Amino acid sequence: MLTLLELLKDGRFHSGQALGAALGISRSAVWKQLQQLEADLGLSIHKVRGRGYQLAAPLTLLSPADICEQSKDCPWTVLAFDSVDSTNAEALRAVERDVPAPFLVLAERQTAGRGRRGRKWASPFAENVYYSLVLRIDGGMRQLEGLSLVVGLAVMQTLREFGIADAGLKWPNDVLVGRKKIAGILLELVGDPADVCHVVLGVGINVNMQKTDEVDQQWTSVRLESGKQVDRNQLVARLSMMLKAYLERHQAQGFSSIQEEWEQNHLWQGSAVSLIAGVNKIDGVVMGIDQQGALRLKVDGVEKVYSGGELSLRLRDDS
Ligand code: BTN
Repeated sequence: MLTLLELLKDGRFHSGQALGAALGISRSAVWKQLQQLEADLGLSIHKVRGRGYQLAAPLTLLSPADICEQSKDCPWTVLAFDSVDSTNAEALRAVERDVPAPFLVLAERQTAGRGRRGRKWASPFAENVYYSLVLRIDGGMRQLEGLSLVVGLAVMQTLREFGIADAGLKWPNDVLVGRKKIAGILLELVGDPADVCHVVLGVGINVNMQKTDEVDQQWTSVRLESGKQVDRNQLVARLSMMLKAYLERHQAQGFSSIQEEWEQNHLWQGSAVSLIAGVNKIDGVVMGIDQQGALRLKVDGVEKVYSGGELSLRLRDDS
């Protein structure tokens, strides 16, 4: 089915006869596969009598060779899939199979993309970036300190390179444009963090998505903000280079060397917020983050520090 998509991805008309001949199948088999493409991948295909079939918009599919060519020194091996449940889950399975880290898992779509706090991450085919980088961490909790915030900063800087000048951060690791989410990050860890472990840095970026009914919060995409279709291979290559530079700095100098830059880009610095922790809600004012990346909040005039993967922030209505 994806061979058929390879033929159609240029966005031009192709006759049923030509497609059938290229694939060695009948015209009615071509028709069935086209219907399947529409149903399974949510693609829209125009059918015009006398001209043939055309994708509603041309597609650029993920290409590890292209990504490698566009990134300096190919920083890590790329495993690209047409469809997976979740690139994070696939990455964790690869760790179990002893695939040597670092390596990067990408997919055209996720059928069960994972978000933070048990949410689902909308992952339509060939529209966005679903990116899971696996690192091996050898004996040092310090290497995990503030790591998810570092990833957020790298994603934000990459988006700025793609023209999203207003991209900013929301603790712990959302990337927003105004109040709309453009990227999210989910770290997952296996092994012993005090000894040897593997960490999956999962990044989802809304790239060319223009509509979806699968997201229950305010969102945007690079395409919606810039008005331009983005080459995802180029975005992945830039993200990998940016991430590599930040990870090297983090490893060499620790999170404290990045803390100030992170705070300068925190959109909610000084804002009145509610910190949500399960069913509990703590009202306070954001003071910043500490040297481990934990949130510093002024609560009833007293500074308190919060950290943990299940926490999230909301702006208070009165702020
Ligand atoms: C969030 O809720 O903000 C985090 C979203 C993280 C989504 C990415 S997409 C690539 C990777 N694979 C997943 O299943 N989740 C992360």
